[in-house]
Amino acid sequence: MKELEIVAAEEENCGNFEERVQKLVEAGYETVAREAIACTRCPLHKSATKRVIGKGSCNPKVMFIGEAPGKTEDETGIPFNGRAGKKLDKMVEYMGLSEEDWFVANTVKCRPPENRRPKASEIECCKPFLIAQITLLDPEIIILLGNTAEKAYCPERKLERGVPVEYEGRMILKLYHPAALIYTASKIDVQKAFIDKNRDLWQ
Ligand code: URA
Repeated sequence: MKELEIVAAEEENCGNFEERVQKLVEAGYETVAREAIACTRCPLHKSATKRVIGKGSCNPKVMFIGEAPGKTEDETGIPFNGRAGKKLDKMVEYMGLSEEDWFVANTVKCRPPENRRPKASEIECCKPFLIAQITLLDPEIIILLGNTAEKAYCPERKLERGVPVEYEGRMILKLYHPAALIYTASKIDVQKAFIDKNRDLWQ
């Protein structure tokens, strides 16, 4: 198949966006998780071991959106369960959040091969699950962890890190992805400053 035909076939598989979201929301969280586990709409499912749906409170004040499951997440089915997860835990602690306060999910539920960035078509295919999760969990604030989360959730906006904006009825804030803090230690203090500046959003 030629590239264009592949894209067209994927778009067809992904179906009508609003309709899919509405059906998922009406069906409830358990069904969202069940359908995401059974999903074969994009090619990522072929190499995934476990689907990584999300973790955290069912009534979160803050919802984090990461990029995609990595190796450890693919093996365990738990998001942010490896090195980046340790950084996220530190971030959450610095933010002063307790377990009941937060939830985390990714832009896609399956690990992209070789930990590559998820493609726009894969993100689009998986987005109804994410939007249904947001709608059902109804967090007050969404924290976008890095550029992929930003592009996935609000593709028509260009956010400045650390500067909150209102989007679709809730506050959103873009911060560094926790993995960026592993590779560039100097970003840790910048991230802390972003958090300090925005504490009133979740406290
Ligand atoms: N990075 C992510 O963006 N998500 C995970 O679940 C793990 C690492």
